[in-house]
Amino acid sequence: MRRRYLVTGGAGYVGSHVVAALADRGDEIVVIDNLRQGHRRAVLDGARLIEADLSDSARLDAVLAEGRWDGVLHFASLSLVGESMRQPFRYLMENAMAGIGLIDACVRHGIARFVLSSTANLFGSASGGPIAEDVAIDPGSPYGESKWMIERALLWADRLHGLRSARLRYFNAAGADPAGRLGEDHRPETHLIPLVIDAALGRRPPLEVFGDDYPTPDGTCIRDYVHVTDLAEAHLLALDQLDARSVTYNLGNGLGHSVLQVIEAVERVGGRRVPYTVAARRPGDPAVLVAASDLIRRETGWTPKHADLDHIVRTAWAWREKHPDGYGN
Ligand code: UFG
Repeated sequence: MRRRYLVTGGAGYVGSHVVAALADRGDEIVVIDNLRQGHRRAVLDGARLIEADLSDSARLDAVLAEGRWDGVLHFASLSLVGESMRQPFRYLMENAMAGIGLIDACVRHGIARFVLSSTANLFGSASGGPIAEDVAIDPGSPYGESKWMIERALLWADRLHGLRSARLRYFNAAGADPAGRLGEDHRPETHLIPLVIDAALGRRPPLEVFGDDYPTPDGTCIRDYVHVTDLAEAHLLALDQLDARSVTYNLGNGLGHSVLQVIEAVERVGGRRVPYTVAARRPGDPAVLVAASDLIRRETGWTPKHADLDHIVRTAWAWREKHPDGYGN
């Protein structure tokens, strides 16, 4: 039977790729997004977009009352680590209130499945080795803390009301829909790969490398860049688990790449030099964040198909070249 999902933040970067993956397999999708960060054009034909804020609880109730839902996927969020260090209480209040309010509404409307877009920022003090789900939680920022608050609320929703959930902690989401339909367009853009590409295309000033004195082989930070389409696939597989129980998965390729290695990949793929300067460290950046994703691989058979860094960059480059202004105004 055709399944029906409500997706908050479905006009955003990861959310829009998940909507596409669900729609591609024939599910019916309703997106709720305030379009403050999301883009109308990121919601592909076939999905319905409701422009509304999650703080509008009457509207949310009305949407949830519209018939049967097979689940809710929650992406809508303030999501900039650095900004959250400057506006901690805005992040804690807005993200936690939206998330917990949504969980409460799901319980009241008898929704059985919930997927949370969570983050590797929960592991702010991890020591450098691959990070599995049982590594101690110590959010690196108020942004990460706000996601942890929602994860905790989901635990209680399961215990007290039987709402099953998947808590998916992404490492560094990257790349673009290989079919070219969707891409990454944050305003302002703060993420490494789109910034490096725009520096290579001469559309921005030289990239600033935030610190080259970290305890890593080349001195720059190491991250686990995971293709957004592989992340989307993980959501589909995690949803299937929710018939039996709640799950928590760390999502990455298990491969670490330094900032300089990302620059080299962009130079290989784009055939242009990337101008850059070395700048001070960015507050809150851990030296190394790499996922151990054995659990989701073992339990669902998830296998990233786009793990190669050059391939990730190629998909991002292709979208950016075709859409120099992203989704436009
Ligand atoms: N970087 C630079 N220069 C830039 C931008 C980034 O050197 O202009 C570096 C950062 O210092 C970091 C790496 O590139 O070492 C990646 O930075 P991003 O901003 O692209 O990503 P983050 O690792 O900071 O954060 C991302 C998501 C968060 C999520 C986190 C989890 O943006 O939402 O991964 O690991 F919480």
